[in-house]
Amino acid sequence: MGALSLSLHLSLCLLLLHFVISAEMAVPESRQPAAALSSPLPAETAGDELSFGHYANTCPNMESIVHNKVNKWSALDPSLAPSIIRLHFHDCAVRGCDASILLNHAASERTAVESKTLRGFEVIDDIKAELEKKCPKTVSCADILASAAREATVKAGGPFWEVPYGRKDGRVSLAQEASQVPMGHENVTYLIEFFQAKGLNLLDLVVLSGSHTIGRSTCGSVQGRLYNFKGTGKPDPSINANYLNYLKRKCRWASEYVELDATTPTKFDSVYYTNLQRKMGLLLTDQLLNSDSRTSLIVSALATQPMLFYQQFSVSMTNLGNVQVLTGDEGEIRTNCNFINRY
Ligand code: HEM
Ligand SMILES: *[C@@H]1O[C@H](CO)[C@@H](O)[C@H](O)[C@H]1NC(C)=O
Repeated sequence: MGALSLSLHLSLCLLLLHFVISAEMAVPESRQPAAALSSPLPAETAGDELSFGHYANTCPNMESIVHNKVNKWSALDPSLAPSIIRLHFHDCAVRGCDASILLNHAASERTAVESKTLRGFEVIDDIKAELEKKCPKTVSCADILASAAREATVKAGGPFWEVPYGRKDGRVSLAQEASQVPMGHENVTYLIEFFQAKGLNLLDLVVLSGSHTIGRSTCGSVQGRLYNFKGTGKPDPSINANYLNYLKRKCRWASEYVELDATTPTKFDSVYYTNLQRKMGLLLTDQLLNSDSRTSLIVSALATQPMLFYQQFSVSMTNLGNVQVLTGDEGEIRTNCNFINRY
């Protein structure tokens, strides 16, 4: 009975979650995001053109090359796996998953303050160099990011999912657009609207925030909560007292690092959500998911059902990888992920 009843159970939970979402999500028309945030196409429309067999003939070893490179780099520095997952998010969050975050020219997204702590670019460059040797001008940088993010997730102990390919690389990257990406001090309405503008729903928001079950943050992203929260002269009352003491000791300098998941920092698990229930979320945006009525039921469902988080993470990462993708004759396949093609 095991497998069947488990999957029935999971489906039931998902059904309940979708019910919760349709009942509570609706963001009033008047509070739609600014025009600049709205996507011209729903993610699903564009995502339909990606396919699982995209490189089957043109670059059959593409995934094993990505796999080997991510493993090689993770062995040298295990902290790179979470950084690669975040890189894929920051790519998809601006102009869709088009590798615009990788462009390295004056005033590109990558140069924005919001991108300051992104890392892992050298891993993508290394993968691209190998792919240009094995299958020149064939695999897009946006597909490499999507594939590397899946490999990094598996490497970190998270779930596997099939990644559809066929994304093209964009030719535009603007620093000012990176300022739309949430940095950890936003309110939940902003987060919901930001995700919704990309075709991602409440469940995607809460589940993908669960990426913070691994990885780290610079202290600069949380110092505003520790001493003078919103001008009150006091710490954020939604931080557990012991955790607050720990953070004050750990975060003397903005440039220092602190783990996003205080309990099991290197394990890909649903403890991120139980942390939130114990007032131990690192970022304000993490902690708010537990108190906001639109997201708190999802947090409790994920906290109590680790398998639900694991399974839905695959689904939501697939949704993320479909955001506003360029396909067919849109965009190009860069030969160097740092620069648009000169021809
Ligand atoms: C919901 C809105 C989100 C906010 C406000 C947010 C914010 C942040 C911040 C502030 C950091 C630390 C940056 C620093 O070094 O100071 C971070 C790290 C990270 N984020 Fe998010 N994030 C969000 C969503 C996501 C999503 C959707 C993903 C992946 C799908 C993700 C994956 C990660 C990972 C893996 C790290 C650790 C990076 C590392 O260790 O280098 N985040 N995030
Ligand atoms: C949420 O944040 C946005 C932008 O940061 C702001 O315009 C809005 O007033 C905030 N909403 C609430 C309910 O605080």
